[in-house]
Amino acid sequence: PETRFEAENGVVSQGVVESNHAGFSGSGFVNYDNVAGSAVEFKVRSETAGPKQVTLRFANGTAVNRPLDITVNGQLAVDEQSFAGTGAWTTWQSVTVTLNLEAGENTVRATATTANGGPNLDYLEI
Ligand code: GCU
Repeated sequence: PETRFEAENGVVSQGVVESNHAGFSGSGFVNYDNVAGSAVEFKVRSETAGPKQVTLRFANGTAVNRPLDITVNGQLAVDEQSFAGTGAWTTWQSVTVTLNLEAGENTVRATATTANGGPNLDYLEI
């Protein structure tokens, strides 16, 4: 079964929780500030150690990719994962990455690498 971690419940660094673009899960989404280094951090619990499929749901209403670096427990796991334009801020899509998690609690951080900041981020699901 999937476990969902809502972005609005994460630790937001240089971003705001908003709810003005329909289609999100939970009570809102994170609007990253349009600056490199803006980030959302999740505490992700995994039953077992090893590679896990992790889904990130997002919207990007621009035509420009908004890559995120993804770290797990402080280590770079995915370098500049693409978050391409979805066509509208109300059009939400998912990307799936493989993250090597430890059993128990992990810190997963998704950090914008360009001056555009990140996409609007809805949730992380494992
Ligand atoms: C718009 C949009 C926001 C989005 C922002 C951006 O302001 O309403 O939801 O985050 O653009 O470009 O990051």
